[in-house]
Amino acid sequence: MFESKSGVLYVAGLGFFALAFVSNAVVPWLMYQRYPEKTAEQLVNANLRYQFEDLARRYPESFEKAFGKPPGGAAEDNAWWNERCAEALRAGRRVYVGEGCWHCHSQFVRPVSNEEQRWGPVARSEEYQNELQRPVMFGTRRVGPDLSREGGRRSNDWHAVHFFHPESVSAGSPMPEYPWLFDGHPDRPNRHGLAMLTYIQWLGSWQESYPYYEAYVPAALIRPDVEPESAEAAGAEQSAVAGEEQVR
Ligand code: HEC
Repeated sequence: MFESKSGVLYVAGLGFFALAFVSNAVVPWLMYQRYPEKTAEQLVNANLRYQFEDLARRYPESFEKAFGKPPGGAAEDNAWWNERCAEALRAGRRVYVGEGCWHCHSQFVRPVSNEEQRWGPVARSEEYQNELQRPVMFGTRRVGPDLSREGGRRSNDWHAVHFFHPESVSAGSPMPEYPWLFDGHPDRPNRHGLAMLTYIQWLGSWQESYPYYEAYVPAALIRPDVEPESAEAAGAEQSAVAGEEQVR
């Protein structure tokens, strides 16, 4: 068999197949068998709930039409919010996939090229061990910025205006408009629009340093009970400290 080249190639082919099977199937299976995949319900966290409730406050009519009337605010209403939030996450992911957002946006901060200084903490494998990353939304290329730390970075109304007409908030943006996520106006996101906003605010909301702002400098705190000059000095000092923390 080994007298001919094809015999050698045949054995090599089988060998490489076995190697690929071990490295791409057996090793990942061994690594992750102790970490069950999280469901959308398990992914709802306090940061995300804040943003989801913000949508209900900002766009009460649209929200009610899409997800039903929010309950009064008693402790047992928690379940209602969590359920709707998980539902919105799933729907938002479907819109993200359907609109091809992954074609221009990655969801993976790589441990190279100082990416963590631009986009925040390097991505860890456990972040992808959930329902919303099946298949993973690593993306194909970066026409736009990485979105894996996008949550909390912008307000819901910024995103709404940006999805409706990107150029309104980002001059010269090549990102397409998505008017069909709205009922004719950026103040009236429809169910798909609200789901998309929830999904975008979820990205990175599980991080310790949340939200992550590129070169974030907090605004100086002006206190009415302190003289203007000293308030300014205190504000500057505070931003210097916070600025250092961000770069870390
Ligand atoms: C043709 C490529 C392209 C497509 C498709 C695209 N984007 Fe973008 N996106 C960009 C570019 C370029 C920017 C940066 C300029 C800007 O802010 O508009 C951007 C910016 C963004 C931002 C703002 C990031 C920030 O904080 O500055 C978000 C959020 C975003 N895109 C989400 C989406 C979503 C969700 C979709 C799908 C509905 C999508 N994009 C589709 C190219 C694209």
